[in-house]
Amino acid sequence: MDYAQRFKGLVPKAEPLILGIESSCDETAAAVVQGRKLLSSVILSSAAEQAKYGGVVPEIASRAHTDAISKAVSSALEEAHIEKSMLDAVAVTYGAGLLGALLVGLSFAKSFAYALGVPLIGVNHIRGHMAAAYLADQTLEPPFITLLASGGHTAVLYTKSYTEFEILGSTRDDAAGEAMDKAARVLGLPYPGGPNIERLAREGKNCIAFPKMFRGNGYDFSYSGLKTAVINYCHNKEQKGEEYSRADVAASFQCAACDVLVERAVSAALKYGCKTIAAGGGVIANTYLRECLVRECIANGLRAVLPEKKFCTDNAAMIAAEGLVQYRAGNFSDLSLNACAHIPLGKKGKQ
Ligand code: KG4
Ligand code: ZN
Repeated sequence: MDYAQRFKGLVPKAEPLILGIESSCDETAAAVVQGRKLLSSVILSSAAEQAKYGGVVPEIASRAHTDAISKAVSSALEEAHIEKSMLDAVAVTYGAGLLGALLVGLSFAKSFAYALGVPLIGVNHIRGHMAAAYLADQTLEPPFITLLASGGHTAVLYTKSYTEFEILGSTRDDAAGEAMDKAARVLGLPYPGGPNIERLAREGKNCIAFPKMFRGNGYDFSYSGLKTAVINYCHNKEQKGEEYSRADVAASFQCAACDVLVERAVSAALKYGCKTIAAGGGVIANTYLRECLVRECIANGLRAVLPEKKFCTDNAAMIAAEGLVQYRAGNFSDLSLNACAHIPLGKKGKQ
């Protein structure tokens, strides 16, 4: 019998204890939730080691996950003050991400779930970022607008129910985080780019008119023009031997990149009659963006639900949160579940 089949007809507990495991990139993370209450979250990162190479080296990430996974899980259980035998399910990221890295967490989760005799729940990493908001505000209920801005995805979605969403707009080229990382590289800032852009931007002002992408056309985004404008601006100045402020470039770029996210999310909420915008993904850790989103929400009579910064970037609490959604829907995985490097967010329109 397939493993998932064993749990068909399982009567879901109201407040199940779910272990979440995340290993898609350079963070080895484990967390425990009880229903929507977060009991623990542990993140062991190999980012400092990766920084030496200017990006994530898959082989190094996989080895670091192997070193860290057991410790991350036992620390998460300890911090939650629970025994592993009390767990009701194990949720784990199966994609998207680095294959070798994903396989470490996935293999660990499979054996853990099997040994405990509890359901295994494969979680799509991006759905995890979207679900982080459920922990940030335990009263949050669909429908609402989701603003997703991570290293690989940028989208505005209409979250209709816990398991159904409609993509209203997404990026036509680079994701917001990718643009942050590329602009950081142009400015000679180390990996990861976003937090470094944010730090440098604090010393500068928004005084360079970078393009805020194309206007109109619904809720889509395009970041490649902005990236090129930053490259051209810096190269032009350098070729002419003119002085320029890297901090002003960072501040101006940050505004151009973030303002459009806020604009699109707010206009979607107004159009769809949603009172709430929930945000997720690494770029949502940006303080300028957070302040801007909160300000615009207040000005338009909306509510912003922003996960704490540490739950915007990669973590396992969000995986456990999406695990809860899937647990309640009875969506369990088999032990043959494989890692996926790419999982499309979906086509524009209803999912
Ligand atoms: O969601 P995430 O942790 O990973 C993916 O699933 O892609 O997002 C990582 C992205 C990176 O591009 C990083 O530069 C960006 O989020 N990021 C930030 C900040 N922290 C992380 N961007 C702007 N400001 C930040 N504070
Ligand atoms: Zn992520």
